[in-house]
Amino acid sequence: RRRREQADFILALDQGTTSSRAILFDRDGKVAGRGQEEVTPLFPSPGHVEQDPNQLWLTTLSSARKAIDAVGAAAREISAIGLTNQRETTIIWDRHTGVPVTNAVVWQSRITSPECARLKALGHEPLIREKTGLVLDPYFSATKISWILDQSPALRARAEKGDLCFGTVDSFLLWRLTSGLVHATDVTNASRTLLWNLHEGAWDQELLEIFRVPRALLPEVKPSSGLFGMTDRKWFGEEIPITGIAGDQQAATFGQQCFTPGLVKDTYGTGCFVVMNTGSSIVPSKYGLLATAGWNMQGKTTFALEGAIFAAGAVIQWLRDGLQIIQQASDSEQLASRVSDNGGVYLVPAFVGLGAPYWDAEARGAIYGLTRGATKEHVCRAALESIVLQTRDVVEAMTCDSGLSIPELRVDGGATANNLLMQMQADVLGIPVQRPQILETTALGAAYLAGLASGFWPQMSDLSHHWHVDRVFEPRITVDHRETWYAGWKKAIERTRS
Ligand code: G3P
Repeated sequence: RRRREQADFILALDQGTTSSRAILFDRDGKVAGRGQEEVTPLFPSPGHVEQDPNQLWLTTLSSARKAIDAVGAAAREISAIGLTNQRETTIIWDRHTGVPVTNAVVWQSRITSPECARLKALGHEPLIREKTGLVLDPYFSATKISWILDQSPALRARAEKGDLCFGTVDSFLLWRLTSGLVHATDVTNASRTLLWNLHEGAWDQELLEIFRVPRALLPEVKPSSGLFGMTDRKWFGEEIPITGIAGDQQAATFGQQCFTPGLVKDTYGTGCFVVMNTGSSIVPSKYGLLATAGWNMQGKTTFALEGAIFAAGAVIQWLRDGLQIIQQASDSEQLASRVSDNGGVYLVPAFVGLGAPYWDAEARGAIYGLTRGATKEHVCRAALESIVLQTRDVVEAMTCDSGLSIPELRVDGGATANNLLMQMQADVLGIPVQRPQILETTALGAAYLAGLASGFWPQMSDLSHHWHVDRVFEPRITVDHRETWYAGWKKAIERTRS
């Protein structure tokens, strides 16, 4: 206890889709040191995405060590570790040796589309939706688990016997950090599996049967803020308590201090994830959003409504690596600024299907409205616009589902450095977009959850002076302009649906 109160830092580990990052935060919520390593996506077949679990672990460990070294901190100066992670990504490993049985099946993978179609045809979707708050889509973990087990009868037999562990990335990293002592996850990650009954707060036997997942595989589910276990001394020279875990979007919502119902954040990462705090109510969506756990602390679950958009930063990566019309992501702002509008061009980035609010696993990307006058500048602008237009789709759905009007949008993530993108976001929504000074809100949220449990920050009110606005983007276009622009997008979406 003494050690925790006197320590200077919280260490946040953020294992994401494209990189593993570690950040040491001080008591003011400021970044004291950081480490980062890229991770490699693997594309074994069209629409299928994997990652090497050992790489996720090793890059997490080395980025943690880099962050600690950058500050010259000793492990005993770290009060606690908070973990946050790319969600839904599925790993199964041997309980005795810790060796993964296959690569991780990444959230973006569409490999289980046929299984989802089979379960839909059997009429299971309404029940699944009611119990989990989610939709029946390959995005979530359950069909990924059964896909791995279906690789061989021997694997399934080992799973039934209790010789294998399933975990989302947080769970796998926790298992490694504690050298196999703890097989657990938190409520937010459990709520993304399609196996978690959101109303009861428990694994659901009926869902386990529908998805053919043996119960013996499952981790214990704990609050997002509280003790999960101690790191093995061998990783950082001494034990450090792990006292916070949340999926990255929930952690970002916490890091943005969306503590009261109605507050909304949008994180622009590989995808774009809009999350609204709905307090103690589970809001079932009629408009294609997800009801999900926001966090659980002090015996109470806060729920959230989420719009998951699969391609945001991925669109800019495609301009760079696929189309090769920019050299680096930040060039997109300048290229798109050379034209004053999209010239009638719309790009629908359904690279891995469409997520919220459409949930169309089979749709694929398209560019519409090309004329002889269309240039790469127009395509680049249309690509950036697709990010903000998808966010508008989700914000509209959120307003209808929650019955709350959204006064402002708090943003974070890499692409928020793009001022043109943020201005377009405010324009298409017709509400102010607030960019805070600290953009590392995902890691900060994990740090908060850990620090509140370890006593580093005794209460939530200690955090309120950390959040400062860097810039507010006010909408600048007329209602007519906004609605004509948006109507063109809706038409492009309709043409892209499978
Ligand atoms: O649901 C997937 C999400 O958690 C991934 O986030 O930031 O790694 O793209 P990110």
